[in-house]
Amino acid sequence: MTNRIIAVINQKGGTGKTTLALNLAAGLSKRGATHLVDADPQRSITQWVGMGGGNSGLPGVAQLAGNPTAVLTKLVRSYRYVVVDCPPTVQGETVAAIMHIANLALIPVLPSPIDLWASVDMANAVKKAQQDNPGLRACLVLNQLESRNALSREMREVVTEFDVPVLASGMQRRAAYRTAAVEGLSVYGVGKRGKHAVADIEAIIEEVLCL
Ligand SMILES: Nc1ncnc2c1ncn2[C@@H]1O[C@H](COP(=O)(O)OP(=O)(O)OP(=O)(O)O)[C@@H](O)[C@H]1O
Ligand SMILES: [Mg+2]
Repeated sequence: MTNRIIAVINQKGGTGKTTLALNLAAGLSKRGATHLVDADPQRSITQWVGMGGGNSGLPGVAQLAGNPTAVLTKLVRSYRYVVVDCPPTVQGETVAAIMHIANLALIPVLPSPIDLWASVDMANAVKKAQQDNPGLRACLVLNQLESRNALSREMREVVTEFDVPVLASGMQRRAAYRTAAVEGLSVYGVGKRGKHAVADIEAIIEEVLCL
């Protein structure tokens, strides 16, 4: 697995970046040392992890203060997986620096063509970043799926028009994602209530580890 720095990114707000970053990091931490990085001035992931106190079992969160490249380079020396929760923008030096060093960009998108088209700029930004960082891989991750088959088939037709591939696995719309956030936990930490959401995240991880 060469995808050691995983940036969860989309310039569109509310597509599930923080939800995916946190739960992905929780699942990855069962496979190897994992650290989160909060690159979003909204500080959502820092608050989420902070809410769980010291007993959440969640990976630590580093702030992206100062030079992003230096922070990420340092972390990747000590951690097998570094998961970066990005702000809802493709503008600015911070996002450019993250894309320059990341191994994988995961782009969560909502399962409607309108939402997907709002992510076109993101796909284009990834393509641009790949010119400087040819090792950067990128995938769309469908989020808030209501019915795995019907909706994802419709979406898959739309996403064929993007140059960025879509993961076969996605996140269904599930209350467990919200309740875990309210409790400052990952879906791994909420017992049986998180069972199906854990299965979503495990499938995403297995797919990502095989890229
Ligand atoms: N699969 C899901 N099922 C149910 N609720 C979800 C799911 N994914 C995300 N949510 C909820 O949708 C909202 C937006 O998710 P989230 O904060 O992860 O998006 P974001 O892309 O990080 O937003 P922002 O652009 O503001 O950083 C949150 O309330 C979250 O709990
Ligand atoms: Mg967020």
